[in-house]
Amino acid sequence: MTEGTTQLEQLDEIREKALAELGTVQDEAALSQWRTHHLGRSSPVMQVFTQLPQVAKELRPALGQAANQVKQALEAALADYSQTLREAALQRSLQTERLDVTLPGRPRVRGRVHPTTLTMREIYRVFGEMGFQVYRTREIETDEYNFELLNIPQHHPARDLWDTFHTTTPGVLLRTHTSPGQIRVMRERCPEPIRVILPGMCYRYEQVSARKDIQFNQVEGLVVDRDITLADLKGTLNEFYRRLFGREVRTRFRASYFPFTEPSGELDVECVLCGGAGCGMCSGTGWLELLGCGMVHPTVLRNGGYDPEKYSGFAFGMGPERTTILRYGITDIRDLWTNDLRFLEQF
Ligand code: DAH
Repeated sequence: MTEGTTQLEQLDEIREKALAELGTVQDEAALSQWRTHHLGRSSPVMQVFTQLPQVAKELRPALGQAANQVKQALEAALADYSQTLREAALQRSLQTERLDVTLPGRPRVRGRVHPTTLTMREIYRVFGEMGFQVYRTREIETDEYNFELLNIPQHHPARDLWDTFHTTTPGVLLRTHTSPGQIRVMRERCPEPIRVILPGMCYRYEQVSARKDIQFNQVEGLVVDRDITLADLKGTLNEFYRRLFGREVRTRFRASYFPFTEPSGELDVECVLCGGAGCGMCSGTGWLELLGCGMVHPTVLRNGGYDPEKYSGFAFGMGPERTTILRYGITDIRDLWTNDLRFLEQF
């Protein structure tokens, strides 16, 4: 057998081997390796071309042609296989990254409005309908505004009603109620008539319990004009609760005492739970205490700049946390401030 014939046989082997290996290639990287091995400069088939000059002259054309055919066959197989690989990859990604646009979306966890905020907004809405503006004043107050100007002098025993957080600056404290806002509005608006609510946080140095906390909201109300009477106070508050609860509710006014109002009263509403029959919520009385109120004391009017001979007014202060507790049947007021999501997510 001549050298040329052997090489012709080898070419068959080269092709078979290369094609068999191609069948095992799984990805682009392996395919590129395969190309180097079987079609690269030092690949067996290319070696045949390199060695061609040493082959006997009469065998050269046939060998050259055969080598060429093998080379072309491998190139064609490569192109073919590369196409197959690409299609397989596409199929794979279509399978694994399949997107079902009809699936329901994943619900987003949304923040919620705090139950007290919900109540406050209701209160703003109803008073808004009744022509009241919302007026915000400071939480850090002076002794003068929190007490003195509200007719509660330094050593007045009524100060015991408000256990106070003092700051290290003498005469500066955390407001114990929203009532100091009354003076601030009056001084700003005088001599205009006033119809505002003053919502906001108040602080008291209290023993924390299921019913009392050291911080809480109040919504103060203040109306000042000529000829304001106790009937306006009662009518306004009755109408407010009728709108807030969405139905007729019985109320009652009890005489009380606050230094900044004269006369002073407290307003009870029939128990929203038992309708007045008496239950645990109302301690068997059938009534729930909702707020303090009264006709603005002449001294307070004067401190606000209004002449009590010409002007009169009424004021009230309610605790929205209390309303919130009643509305949602919350048994412990501390739940409102512990920020426990299990509690907050119920609203
Ligand atoms: N400031 C009072 C308190 O915190 C509540 C109050 C009572 C406000 C009577 C008023 C009012 O405006 O007229 O206990």
